[in-house]
Amino acid sequence: MKPACIFDLDGVIVDTAKYHYLAWKRLANSLGFDFTEHDNEQLKGVSRIESLNLILRLGGKELDAAEFDAALVRKNGWYLEYIQQIGPEEILPGAAEFLSSARAQGMKVALGSASKNAVLILERIQLLDQFDAIVDGNKVSKAKPDPEVFLKAAEELAVPASACIVFEDAVAGVQAARNAGMKVVGIGSAAVLDQAHFVLPNFAGLSIVDVLARFA
Ligand code: BG6
Ligand code: MG
Repeated sequence: MKPACIFDLDGVIVDTAKYHYLAWKRLANSLGFDFTEHDNEQLKGVSRIESLNLILRLGGKELDAAEFDAALVRKNGWYLEYIQQIGPEEILPGAAEFLSSARAQGMKVALGSASKNAVLILERIQLLDQFDAIVDGNKVSKAKPDPEVFLKAAEELAVPASACIVFEDAVAGVQAARNAGMKVVGIGSAAVLDQAHFVLPNFAGLSIVDVLARFA
């Protein structure tokens, strides 16, 4: 069985972390405390609800259920404002070419992202038509490291989990891929993503053929 690729979105294909950060910081400031870029590192790959829980813990602030929901809506509104501006220039180095190389090998390609804004982002960066299946935060109920998002993607591609290669920049995402019984390539720092089969700093100058060779 030909292997298939499953890509995380934020931090793997597109650089959205800075917009999430700006929106969370604006929310924290509106609640009376600050939120640093350093703390933002902990939010990589973390769902919207879990991100807010973490930020409130850091700020020592409690919200009741209605305020919590309103805060999520406000943050997402600001985030949407920021990402309305983005375009293909925000695609991470080599990511678009890497995706094309997988398709050129006749491999199936899926998205496996926690984001509920994934389709909008793929439209804005003009990569929506590159995916055979899209599983995003609207389709899953369990956050990474639960394997649900990747198992659903494999199911939609009709490819067994053991034949899937996941590309992930977040620790929880690497664990989710492992929990799904998939191969996983970390994108970022090898020191951080030590549970990946191997780690690439980014996709620049690489094609799927290079990755397949590493697994051969
Ligand atoms: C992940 C991001 O991909 O999606 C997280 O790494 C983000 O930072 C999560 O919180 C949920 O995204 P959204 O767009 O649904 O708020
Ligand atoms: Mg990510």
